[in-house]
Amino acid sequence: MALTSTKEILEKAHREGYAVGAFNVNNMEILQGVIEGSQETSAPVIVAVTEGAIRYAGFDYLVAMVRVAAEEASVPVALHLDHGRDPGVIRRCIEGGFTSVMIDASHLPFEENLKATKEVVEMARPFGVSVEAELGRLKGVEDLLSVKEREATLTDPEEAERFVRETGIDFLAPAIGTSHGAFKFKGKPKLDIDRLREIKGRVGIPLVLHGASTVPPWLLELLHSYGGKLDEAKGVPPDQLREAIASGVNKVNTDTDLRLAFTVAVRKVLQESPEVFDPRKILGPARDLIKRVVMEKNRLFGSAGKAS
Ligand code: G3H
Ligand code: 13P
Ligand code: ZN
Repeated sequence: MALTSTKEILEKAHREGYAVGAFNVNNMEILQGVIEGSQETSAPVIVAVTEGAIRYAGFDYLVAMVRVAAEEASVPVALHLDHGRDPGVIRRCIEGGFTSVMIDASHLPFEENLKATKEVVEMARPFGVSVEAELGRLKGVEDLLSVKEREATLTDPEEAERFVRETGIDFLAPAIGTSHGAFKFKGKPKLDIDRLREIKGRVGIPLVLHGASTVPPWLLELLHSYGGKLDEAKGVPPDQLREAIASGVNKVNTDTDLRLAFTVAVRKVLQESPEVFDPRKILGPARDLIKRVVMEKNRLFGSAGKAS
């Protein structure tokens, strides 16, 4: 089928109380693993590309690959710009067939974030493209100086209500304690679920959880057994992710866990079969492991079985 509207996919998830995976892709194997895993679990899926992915693979290559993937797929596939910052790239995505874009102006003061977001909503509306924006800051463990400072980076529910009302965005990404990458927590992982519930109650639209990778211990173990080194890596515990979904998250952004899967599979082949130099024998297993991780994710998110 053709690409499916992100809004349609997420409104259904919002109504029925589950979340859909938004998986970051940078090349063909990652994309195919994501699509195969979603087909195998009958789950709708959002393919996310960042400005970095566009710089790496090329805009036209990525769009063409995702279009083909969607046409061949038996499940709904949406194409989303993740963390859009450059207005030129955002415009190109809106005009070039993306079904949704994220404007990430969360680093700016509230009023400036609101203004920049509003401009993107106005740009996207005529094309029927939906818009996600972020309010609050996702801080990495290295940036967290104190508990108080961390608190100040989390989304204020009252501000969230005003932000959604005045911008007219379709999906909101609040900060509730996650961060990007493999090192999310120094101590005990803790998401602010009460804050999330209050935000959901006030805004009543699909919410997005960034930095949602769980960094599965089995993947870390494999990574270390094949010579990788990511000591102290820690993700969002699956139970807390489930709770976040039950409290209003409908889009779960996942990149790190796919990167881990890809790297584990490549390391395994290179270590166990030093005679191999056919790229298909190196990248094929990476695609397969991504598929397995995506299947696990879709079951955890509740999107499995929701393709129709
Ligand atoms: O937040 C999204 C990604 O994890 C960062 O991806 O390296 O393509 O910008 P990037
Ligand atoms: P992770 O780094 O936890 O996978 O988060 C990805 C993300 O938020 C993409 O927007
Ligand atoms: Zn993100």
